[in-house]
Amino acid sequence: MTSAPKTFHIKSFGCQMNVYDGERMAELLSDTGLAPAGRGEDADLVVLNTCHIREKASEKAYSDVGRLRRDDGSRPMIALAGCVAQAEGAEAQVRSKMIDIVVGPQAYHRLPELVAEASRGRRPIDTGLPGLAKFGAFPGRRRAAPSAFLTVQEGCDKFCTYCVVPYTRGAEISRPWGDVIAEAHALVDGGAREIVLLGQNVNAWRDGNRGLADLIAKLSHIDGLERIRYTTSHPADMTDALIAAHGEIDKLMPYLHLPVQSGSDRILRAMNRSHSTDSYVRTIEQVRAARPDIAISGDFIVGFPGETEEDFLATLEIVDEVQYAAAYSFKYSARPGTPAAAMDAQVEPEIMDDRLRRLHDRIAKHQLAFNRSSVGKDTRVLIERKGRQLGQMIGRSPWMQSVHLETSAAPGDMIDLTLVSAGPNSMSGAARAAKAA
Ligand code: 5AD
Ligand code: SF4
Repeated sequence: MTSAPKTFHIKSFGCQMNVYDGERMAELLSDTGLAPAGRGEDADLVVLNTCHIREKASEKAYSDVGRLRRDDGSRPMIALAGCVAQAEGAEAQVRSKMIDIVVGPQAYHRLPELVAEASRGRRPIDTGLPGLAKFGAFPGRRRAAPSAFLTVQEGCDKFCTYCVVPYTRGAEISRPWGDVIAEAHALVDGGAREIVLLGQNVNAWRDGNRGLADLIAKLSHIDGLERIRYTTSHPADMTDALIAAHGEIDKLMPYLHLPVQSGSDRILRAMNRSHSTDSYVRTIEQVRAARPDIAISGDFIVGFPGETEEDFLATLEIVDEVQYAAAYSFKYSARPGTPAAAMDAQVEPEIMDDRLRRLHDRIAKHQLAFNRSSVGKDTRVLIERKGRQLGQMIGRSPWMQSVHLETSAAPGDMIDLTLVSAGPNSMSGAARAAKAA
């Protein structure tokens, strides 16, 4: 692959931070004169923006690379990006001759340069972790979806024993106050009505003595910005100020994603989570005292090494106690290089499957109950996209529920409606009075 690419396609996997990075890489490549390919498979350059958090991530990435070979034997220039690139480094190009560029999540500012090098027949690798350098290189102008992501913090210093993030994204680092505010303005000017502040540990964001609550308060004064959310938070970083913000700032939506991972203190200790079930539940109580209608969501891992049936039952108990409005559950997956991967008593796959199913069922029960309890509420949704049926649009309630409704409103409009019925995964609404944003 030795000619300079004219078109590109970016495929992002995994978390919202990868989605954000993918959007910003697209802007960067467009700025350097490449055009987005109409059909991904026709692109001259394909960037695979990979995720390493669970299950056979690297194997999946290599098979994705293999599938980029075309019927006539040709292939695009291939950049392996994201957390698999960071974890595999030079090994990636040993395992696959098709990979031209390896670029880690903190090195995207060098992508145009790396593409130029690859065009000259070289096979560049950059898995440096220089912190905030990439943000400075991304173009300032933004085109934004009604609900736009804004990464404010990256990396993690918590070192939960199962997790690769501290190794793939590096140490905890916060973007400066002024940069975040400038980008938020650019997003709103570009059409965003809602901003979702992102970070692996977003509530650990800080600049000097300002924390996330101060940042949210500041952003709430931006005209045209209707809603603010943030994700993902760590229980140990839920400050009093942030909890209070939920009761004080109208634009801060009543939804909190606060992973607990397990309901067993023994397992939480083995996970090095730095919180207990008690401290977690107390935090939830405080958040609910500040904002009684808040929807709580979480993440769970089943089958962490040494997890017994009793530990698992404690997880079901905390699900009942917190009454999650939504939650994500995952089977434990040993990540190479993490402490948990070397622990004894790895749990049998069949047991994990069984626990995952039981946990899903329990979460689904609470999610449906939460959705049913919302029926009859008068609220506003932010219209995000078209629904499947003609004339139907899908918006989001303040509580993060997908709401289907018949309306002539367009994405970006805020619509007043009544929630009229509830399903397991979505709500239906009936518009009251339409108001364009
Ligand atoms: N195995 C399974 N799930 C994991 N997560 C992180 N690491 C692992 C792992 N090794 C889950 C956690 C985290 C979410 C983003 O992914 O629940 O909160
Ligand atoms: Fe991973 Fe734990 Fe950091 Fe979350 S807090 S990114 S689970 S190490």
